[in-house]
Amino acid sequence: MSRIFSGIQPSGEITIGNYLGAIRNWVRLIDEHDSIFCVVDQHAITVEYEIAELPKKIFDAAATNIAAGLDPAKCALFVQSRVPEHTELAWYFNTVTPMGDLGRMTQFKEKSKQHRENINVGLFGYPVLQAADILLYKADRVPVGEDQVQHIELARDIARKFNARFGPIFPEPQVILSPTPRIMGLDGQAKMSKSMKNYIGVLEEPASIRSKLAVALTDENRKRRTDPGNPDICNIFTLHKSLSSPEEIDRVNVECRRAGIGCVDCKKILADNMIRELDPIREKFRELERRPDEVHDVLEKGAARCRTIAAATMDEVRRAMGLR
Ligand code: AMP
Ligand code: TRP
Repeated sequence: MSRIFSGIQPSGEITIGNYLGAIRNWVRLIDEHDSIFCVVDQHAITVEYEIAELPKKIFDAAATNIAAGLDPAKCALFVQSRVPEHTELAWYFNTVTPMGDLGRMTQFKEKSKQHRENINVGLFGYPVLQAADILLYKADRVPVGEDQVQHIELARDIARKFNARFGPIFPEPQVILSPTPRIMGLDGQAKMSKSMKNYIGVLEEPASIRSKLAVALTDENRKRRTDPGNPDICNIFTLHKSLSSPEEIDRVNVECRRAGIGCVDCKKILADNMIRELDPIREKFRELERRPDEVHDVLEKGAARCRTIAAATMDEVRRAMGLR
């Protein structure tokens, strides 16, 4: 059975971009893979953050994932900082990673622009820690959204370089791209993200979902109700494709093009479907919030299992590198 590994940062509310681009795909994969999922708190601290808020964000990220369908009986879920081998392996990987490769990472360039006052070494080395996350467990598949493909390619390069220098220890991990790998923000300007005000949260209340969708960008060229629209360039249609039934998608596609349906009605169908999908997740999350010990227990069991795998890999790594 091949092993999958993926991670999510506890950096704010989990968005429907995370859900459609990653988590929902993870849930589909857990039955056929040995699956490990990680709340990557050590990645989240590479940009400014509120210390007092981090523990709750870590808890919420874990509980949201469980609520969204990551059944703890079928996978390991844990918090990165509870398995110290991640940072140890990242240090060893630093020695085979060219600085030029890290400087070329799109996410580093973007975050450097957003956080000019704190472009720290951790932010620069972020993809090295990510490679360590994956390779510590010798995972061969990594299900992510499109924005992470470049980081996984780098993880593959790091595995190859390490193996060439120290012996064949690591697999070269492959991406499993989700069917909806890039969800745009509601303003249609940039990728939907926790750090921007352009998202719908997975745990959001129905009224709030409706009001956000009501003002979301559609096909900009469609000025009046009587103008035909173009679903191919409409962000709302993209969301339909991941949340509505095949019949509804067909109908919206055809009717929009001949102005048979307006944006208001089209958004209403989408809102109904989104709320139907998210309602049970929110309810399950509220339940878990009332029983935090259960979540902590899942995370502790996950970490214990991961520490065993991590210890064995590190033993091999230290030996191969002459650190004995
Ligand atoms: P992050 O929130 O950056 O930790 O991302 C966690 C996962 O969600 C990664 O696999 C990302 O690729 C995925 N993801 C985040 N935002 C989006 C988006 N707007 N569309 C698709 N996938 C996304
Ligand atoms: N960098 C990823 C993101 O921002 C999160 C992450 C950390 C990750 N380690 C990982 C994803 C390992 C996949 C595998 O989305």
